[in-house]
Amino acid sequence: MKTKIAVANGDGIGPEIMSAVLNIFEASNVQLEYEFVEMGKSYFDAGHSTGMTDKAKATIEELGLLFKGPMETPKGKGVKSINVTARKVWNTYANQRDFRSLNGVDTVFSKAGIPINITIVRENIEDTYGGIEHLLTYDVAVGRRIITRPGSAQVIRYAFEMARRKGYKKLACAHKANIMKLTDGMFLEVFQEIAKEYPDIESSDIIVDDLCMKLVSKPQMFEAIVLTNLQGDIVSDLCAGLVGGLGFAPSANIGDNISIFEAVHGTAPDIAGYGIANPTALLLSGISMLRFLGFSSKAAEIENALLYTLEQGIHTGDFGDKSIPSQTTKGFADAIIGNLGKSPAKSPVIASEDTEVKSRVSQLLKNKLTVTEGIKEEMVGVDIFVEAGNLQPNELAELAKKQLKYNDNFDLVMISNRGTQVWPTGSIFTELVNEYRVRFEKKAGKDITQRELLHIAADFSQDAKICSVEFLMKFGGKIGYTLAQGQ
Ligand code: NAI
Repeated sequence: MKTKIAVANGDGIGPEIMSAVLNIFEASNVQLEYEFVEMGKSYFDAGHSTGMTDKAKATIEELGLLFKGPMETPKGKGVKSINVTARKVWNTYANQRDFRSLNGVDTVFSKAGIPINITIVRENIEDTYGGIEHLLTYDVAVGRRIITRPGSAQVIRYAFEMARRKGYKKLACAHKANIMKLTDGMFLEVFQEIAKEYPDIESSDIIVDDLCMKLVSKPQMFEAIVLTNLQGDIVSDLCAGLVGGLGFAPSANIGDNISIFEAVHGTAPDIAGYGIANPTALLLSGISMLRFLGFSSKAAEIENALLYTLEQGIHTGDFGDKSIPSQTTKGFADAIIGNLGKSPAKSPVIASEDTEVKSRVSQLLKNKLTVTEGIKEEMVGVDIFVEAGNLQPNELAELAKKQLKYNDNFDLVMISNRGTQVWPTGSIFTELVNEYRVRFEKKAGKDITQRELLHIAADFSQDAKICSVEFLMKFGGKIGYTLAQGQ
């Protein structure tokens, strides 16, 4: 019996490369059945705010697997990217991108004889991709960076399992925990906890800027790297550049219930309709989808034919030896079809046995909710973000102290501006913007309520505009907030 999956052709070059890939699947007699779903730009234009019809949503949720072409998000209409929405709504928490040197695709590293084989696993839901941003004053914009323990654990566990499945020896966690101590710090802490369960895999961590330097100088150092969303996004495009560009970068968005396979590149509007796009990235995504579903021997057959074709110097216009005429999308796909059953001479032949073909269908009745239980928490104060006109820090401190006249439970401990302490101590050289953070902490031995903290903010609003309020918490005795620079 065939396995049914949802397919969205996408926009721009999407239909051209999708048709090329599905033709290759058909020629290889892959046992898949496709249900084409309505998603993409024309569905935004037709008034579907999510860029897909209700039927498309229902089909994807029922089948659990979407193979998609690139999609255009209309610019300037206030709509969110359909690609990002799909990943978030369906909780495809791990974005896996495999980058490796391909014979026939010249890069500075291939010319230097340095092979690259790196898998990036990027967290796909959280971080700044929540898109939760506010203008607090006309001059000050803030964005929330959300990193959670369950979200980090999901993607990190996936990365370790993937490393084990692929027979990798090592997995690195890249981060910026030296600066973002609570967000990246949490991601790193979860990585180190989960690493203990995988003693067969050498785990290490690396600061993301150091990683970038090492990736462009010694990419052979790395096998697999797990990162938070934004850093992973940037690093994975860097890796695409190492192996020849976006035309060779496949992407799998993996979730527990729904997974999405697509190319990393976009709709390439500049070449859409000419039939010259390179289908390799979508084909590589399709090959990893076949493996994911359990069709490993078909995946190997198609991958070997692709590698053989590339070794023959056959190419589309965006890469390869310019002295050999380039193929159209169809011509390139037909060459791969003609080479099914052949094996590459210069690259290792992909060998594989069929694994169990998985059913992706799961029926959920409610949203999954994960909470870490049993951690003692204590509220110890509040950061009140205020717009304070042209006030200098000491003037603002006097206003803030007024709020304590009726409440002896708190101290005013610090005022900062753009994260740098400016009161009680600071430097006259620190430049200010018109949004301050004013921190009140409870005095030792006092019990306080959230209501009291809100009262301070409410009273303060009579003297300054309150932009936002964050409570200061301790979890398991450890402070859950950062100190200001210079505090
Ligand atoms: P793009 O990836 O579409 O194009 C960048 C450059 O790479 C262009 O010169 C293009 O011709 C070339 N290129 C890309 N894929 C190619 C292929 N398969 N063969 C040959 N050349 C290829 O990026 P751009 O121009 O920034 O975005 C265009 C549209 O795609 C935007 O609407 C964007 O939102 C959307 N997009 C969608 C993605 C998705 O569906 N996952 C991902 C990235 C962008």
